[in-house]
Amino acid sequence: MMSPPLRYFQLLGLVEFYQPKTIVEVGTWNGQHGIDMCRSSLNTHSEDVHYTGYDLYQDGTDALDDIEFNAKSRVTLEDVSESFDELQAEFPSRFTYELIKGDTNKTLTATNADFVFLDGGHSPKTVWNDYEKTIDSKVIVFDDYFKEDKEGKIADIDHQGTNVVVDSLKEKAKWILPSLDRVAGGGTTSLAVIVNEGKSPPNKDILLVPIFIEVKNT
Ligand SMILES: C[S@@+](CC[C@H](N)C(=O)[O-])C[C@H]1O[C@@H](n2cnc3c(N)ncnc32)[C@H](O)[C@@H]1O
Repeated sequence: MMSPPLRYFQLLGLVEFYQPKTIVEVGTWNGQHGIDMCRSSLNTHSEDVHYTGYDLYQDGTDALDDIEFNAKSRVTLEDVSESFDELQAEFPSRFTYELIKGDTNKTLTATNADFVFLDGGHSPKTVWNDYEKTIDSKVIVFDDYFKEDKEGKIADIDHQGTNVVVDSLKEKAKWILPSLDRVAGGGTTSLAVIVNEGKSPPNKDILLVPIFIEVKNT
Protein backbone atom coordinates (compact mmCIF):
# COMPACT_ATOMS: atom_id res chain seq x y z
CA MET A 1 0.00 0.00 0.00
CA MET A 2 1.37 3.47 -0.95
CA SER A 3 1.30 5.81 2.06
CA PRO A 4 0.86 9.57 1.54
CA PRO A 5 3.96 11.77 2.02
CA LEU A 6 4.72 12.08 5.74
CA ARG A 7 5.09 15.82 5.64
CA TYR A 8 1.35 16.27 5.14
CA PHE A 9 0.78 14.61 8.52
CA GLN A 10 3.37 17.03 9.91
CA LEU A 11 1.55 19.95 8.27
CA LEU A 12 -1.74 18.97 9.92
CA GLY A 13 0.09 18.48 13.23
CA LEU A 14 1.29 22.09 12.95
CA VAL A 15 -2.22 23.39 12.19
CA GLU A 16 -3.62 21.46 15.16
CA PHE A 17 -0.92 22.94 17.40
CA TYR A 18 -1.08 26.60 16.27
CA GLN A 19 -4.91 26.62 15.85
CA PRO A 20 -4.97 29.41 13.23
CA LYS A 21 -8.00 31.53 12.45
CA THR A 22 -6.58 32.84 9.19
CA ILE A 23 -4.84 30.46 6.79
CA VAL A 24 -3.11 31.34 3.51
CA GLU A 25 -2.02 28.59 1.11
CA VAL A 26 0.11 29.52 -1.88
CA GLY A 27 -0.34 26.71 -4.40
CA THR A 28 -3.66 25.06 -3.52
CA TRP A 29 -3.56 22.51 -6.35
CA ASN A 30 -6.78 20.44 -5.96
CA GLY A 31 -7.57 21.97 -2.56
CA GLN A 32 -7.53 18.73 -0.59
CA HIS A 33 -4.74 19.71 1.80
CA GLY A 34 -6.21 23.20 2.16
CA ILE A 35 -9.54 21.66 3.17
CA ASP A 36 -7.77 19.33 5.60
CA MET A 37 -5.98 22.31 7.19
CA CYS A 38 -9.23 24.28 7.52
CA ARG A 39 -11.16 21.32 8.92
CA SER A 40 -8.40 20.64 11.43
CA SER A 41 -8.51 24.27 12.53
CA LEU A 42 -12.32 24.36 12.71
CA ASN A 43 -12.22 21.26 14.89
CA THR A 44 -9.53 22.46 17.30
CA HIS A 45 -11.13 25.79 18.26
CA SER A 46 -14.58 27.34 18.14
CA GLU A 47 -13.82 30.65 16.41
CA ASP A 48 -14.20 31.64 12.75
CA VAL A 49 -11.71 30.41 10.14
CA HIS A 50 -10.89 32.26 6.91
CA TYR A 51 -8.81 30.60 4.17
CA THR A 52 -7.21 32.32 1.19
CA GLY A 53 -5.81 30.09 -1.56
CA TYR A 54 -3.65 31.10 -4.54
CA ASP A 55 -2.89 29.07 -7.65
CA LEU A 56 -2.43 29.42 -11.38
CA TYR A 57 -5.36 27.02 -11.83
CA GLN A 58 -6.28 26.90 -15.55
CA ASP A 59 -3.77 29.71 -16.32
CA GLY A 60 -0.90 27.24 -15.79
CA THR A 61 1.25 26.28 -18.79
CA ASP A 62 3.85 23.59 -19.48
CA ALA A 63 6.53 26.31 -19.66
CA LEU A 64 5.60 27.60 -16.18
CA ASP A 65 5.53 24.02 -14.85
CA ASP A 66 9.18 23.66 -15.92
CA ILE A 67 10.25 26.96 -14.38
CA GLU A 68 8.32 26.35 -11.13
CA PHE A 69 9.07 22.59 -10.83
CA ASN A 70 5.36 21.73 -10.86
CA ALA A 71 4.50 18.08 -11.41
CA LYS A 72 0.84 18.34 -10.39
CA SER A 73 -2.02 18.09 -12.87
CA ARG A 74 -3.91 21.17 -14.07
CA VAL A 75 -7.00 22.00 -11.99
CA THR A 76 -9.69 24.64 -12.48
CA LEU A 77 -10.66 27.28 -9.95
CA GLU A 78 -14.31 26.25 -10.38
CA ASP A 79 -13.64 22.60 -9.42
CA VAL A 80 -11.58 23.59 -6.38
CA SER A 81 -14.28 26.09 -5.37
CA GLU A 82 -16.86 23.29 -5.35
CA SER A 83 -14.80 21.36 -2.80
CA PHE A 84 -14.47 24.42 -0.54
CA ASP A 85 -18.23 25.09 -0.91
CA GLU A 86 -18.86 21.67 0.63
CA LEU A 87 -16.76 22.58 3.66
CA GLN A 88 -18.54 25.93 3.86
CA ALA A 89 -21.88 24.10 3.92
CA GLU A 90 -20.63 22.05 6.88
CA PHE A 91 -19.58 25.16 8.83
CA PRO A 92 -21.86 27.89 7.40
CA SER A 93 -21.45 30.35 10.26
CA ARG A 94 -17.73 29.86 10.91
CA PHE A 95 -15.92 29.22 7.62
CA THR A 96 -15.22 31.62 4.75
CA TYR A 97 -12.76 31.33 1.89
CA GLU A 98 -11.47 32.96 -1.27
CA LEU A 99 -9.47 31.49 -4.16
CA ILE A 100 -7.29 33.76 -6.29
CA LYS A 101 -6.22 32.70 -9.80
CA GLY A 102 -2.95 33.72 -11.44
CA ASP A 103 0.80 33.96 -10.96
CA THR A 104 1.53 34.96 -7.35
CA ASN A 105 4.30 37.25 -8.61
CA LYS A 106 1.35 39.39 -9.74
CA THR A 107 -1.63 38.37 -7.60
CA LEU A 108 -0.18 38.08 -4.09
CA THR A 109 -0.37 41.30 -2.11
CA ALA A 110 1.16 41.92 1.33
CA THR A 111 -0.78 39.75 3.72
CA ASN A 112 -0.52 38.85 7.36
CA ALA A 113 -2.05 35.54 8.47
CA ASP A 114 -1.91 33.24 11.50
CA PHE A 115 -0.63 30.36 9.35
CA VAL A 116 0.87 30.41 5.85
CA PHE A 117 1.72 27.35 3.72
CA LEU A 118 4.03 28.27 0.84
CA ASP A 119 3.79 25.53 -1.79
CA GLY A 120 3.31 27.30 -5.13
CA GLY A 121 6.13 27.98 -7.56
CA HIS A 122 9.55 26.62 -6.53
CA SER A 123 11.86 28.93 -8.48
CA PRO A 124 13.95 31.17 -6.16
CA LYS A 125 12.27 34.28 -7.63
CA THR A 126 8.75 33.05 -6.83
CA VAL A 127 9.57 31.70 -3.35
CA TRP A 128 11.20 35.06 -2.50
CA ASN A 129 8.11 36.86 -3.74
CA ASP A 130 5.73 34.61 -1.80
CA TYR A 131 7.78 34.85 1.40
CA GLU A 132 8.22 38.62 1.25
CA LYS A 133 4.48 39.15 0.75
CA THR A 134 3.65 37.01 3.82
CA ILE A 135 6.74 37.85 5.88
CA ASP A 136 4.97 39.16 9.01
CA SER A 137 2.62 36.20 9.39
CA LYS A 138 2.77 34.31 12.69
CA VAL A 139 3.81 30.90 11.33
CA ILE A 140 5.16 30.31 7.81
CA VAL A 141 5.61 26.76 6.55
CA PHE A 142 7.54 26.18 3.31
CA ASP A 143 7.21 22.93 1.41
CA ASP A 144 10.14 21.43 -0.45
CA TYR A 145 13.31 22.16 1.45
CA PHE A 146 15.50 19.74 -0.50
CA LYS A 147 18.33 17.57 0.85
CA GLU A 148 20.71 15.15 -0.82
CA ASP A 149 19.78 11.48 -0.71
CA LYS A 150 22.27 8.65 0.01
CA GLU A 151 23.48 8.75 -3.61
CA GLY A 152 24.17 12.47 -3.32
CA LYS A 153 21.26 13.40 -5.59
CA ILE A 154 19.20 16.55 -5.00
CA ALA A 155 16.67 18.64 -7.00
CA ASP A 156 18.09 21.03 -9.58
CA ILE A 157 19.45 24.32 -8.16
CA ASP A 158 16.89 26.32 -10.21
CA HIS A 159 14.11 24.62 -8.22
CA GLN A 160 15.66 25.05 -4.78
CA GLY A 161 13.72 28.24 -4.03
CA THR A 162 12.83 27.14 -0.50
CA ASN A 163 16.48 26.27 0.31
CA VAL A 164 17.68 29.64 -1.03
CA VAL A 165 15.18 31.65 1.01
CA VAL A 166 15.25 29.62 4.24
CA ASP A 167 19.07 29.36 4.29
CA SER A 168 19.35 33.14 3.95
CA LEU A 169 17.14 33.85 7.00
CA LYS A 170 19.74 34.07 9.76
CA GLU A 171 17.78 35.97 12.40
CA LYS A 172 14.59 33.93 12.33
CA ALA A 173 13.40 31.08 14.58
CA LYS A 174 13.39 28.32 11.97
CA TRP A 175 13.33 24.53 11.76
CA ILE A 176 13.64 21.92 9.03
CA LEU A 177 11.35 19.07 10.05
CA PRO A 178 12.71 15.51 9.75
CA SER A 179 11.46 13.75 6.62
CA LEU A 180 11.80 10.57 4.59
CA ASP A 181 9.82 11.89 1.59
CA ARG A 182 11.62 11.33 -1.69
CA VAL A 183 11.65 13.57 -4.77
CA ALA A 184 11.17 12.00 -8.22
CA GLY A 185 14.59 12.34 -9.83
CA GLY A 186 16.51 12.18 -6.55
CA GLY A 187 16.85 13.77 -3.12
CA THR A 188 14.46 14.20 -0.23
CA THR A 189 12.03 16.97 0.63
CA SER A 190 11.11 18.44 4.03
CA LEU A 191 8.91 21.14 5.50
CA ALA A 192 10.73 24.26 6.76
CA VAL A 193 8.99 26.26 9.50
CA ILE A 194 9.47 29.90 10.52
CA VAL A 195 7.76 30.98 13.76
CA ASN A 196 7.43 34.76 14.22
CA GLU A 197 4.94 34.46 17.06
CA GLY A 198 4.29 31.40 19.21
CA LYS A 199 6.01 28.30 20.53
CA SER A 200 8.49 26.18 18.60
CA PRO A 201 6.92 23.41 16.45
CA PRO A 202 5.92 20.34 18.48
CA ASN A 203 7.17 17.97 15.76
CA LYS A 204 10.56 19.63 15.21
CA ASP A 205 12.62 16.58 16.26
CA ILE A 206 10.31 13.61 15.83
CA LEU A 207 9.15 11.77 12.77
CA LEU A 208 5.87 9.97 13.42
CA VAL A 209 5.16 7.36 10.78
CA PRO A 210 1.46 6.47 10.51
CA ILE A 211 0.63 2.77 10.49
CA PHE A 212 -2.00 1.62 7.98
CA ILE A 213 -3.77 -1.59 8.91
CA GLU A 214 -5.36 -3.58 6.11
CA VAL A 215 -8.05 -5.93 7.39
CA LYS A 216 -8.34 -9.08 5.29
CA ASN A 217 -11.22 -11.53 5.45
CA THR A 218 -9.89 -15.06 5.96
C1 LIG B 1 2.94 21.23 -5.39
S1 LIG B 1 1.46 21.93 -5.96
C2 LIG B 1 0.62 22.41 -4.50
C3 LIG B 1 0.16 21.25 -3.67
C4 LIG B 1 -0.79 21.63 -2.56
N1 LIG B 1 -0.23 22.68 -1.71
C5 LIG B 1 -1.04 20.41 -1.73
O1 LIG B 1 -0.56 20.34 -0.58
O2 LIG B 1 -1.73 19.48 -2.24
C6 LIG B 1 2.00 23.47 -6.59
C7 LIG B 1 0.87 24.33 -7.12
O3 LIG B 1 1.41 25.65 -7.29
C8 LIG B 1 0.90 26.21 -8.47
N2 LIG B 1 1.87 27.22 -8.95
C9 LIG B 1 3.09 27.00 -9.48
N3 LIG B 1 3.69 28.16 -9.76
C10 LIG B 1 2.82 29.14 -9.39
C11 LIG B 1 2.86 30.57 -9.47
N4 LIG B 1 3.93 31.23 -9.94
N5 LIG B 1 1.78 31.26 -9.03
C12 LIG B 1 0.68 30.61 -8.55
N6 LIG B 1 0.61 29.25 -8.45
C13 LIG B 1 1.66 28.54 -8.88
C14 LIG B 1 0.69 25.05 -9.43
O4 LIG B 1 -0.34 25.35 -10.36
C15 LIG B 1 0.34 23.89 -8.48
O5 LIG B 1 -1.05 23.68 -8.41
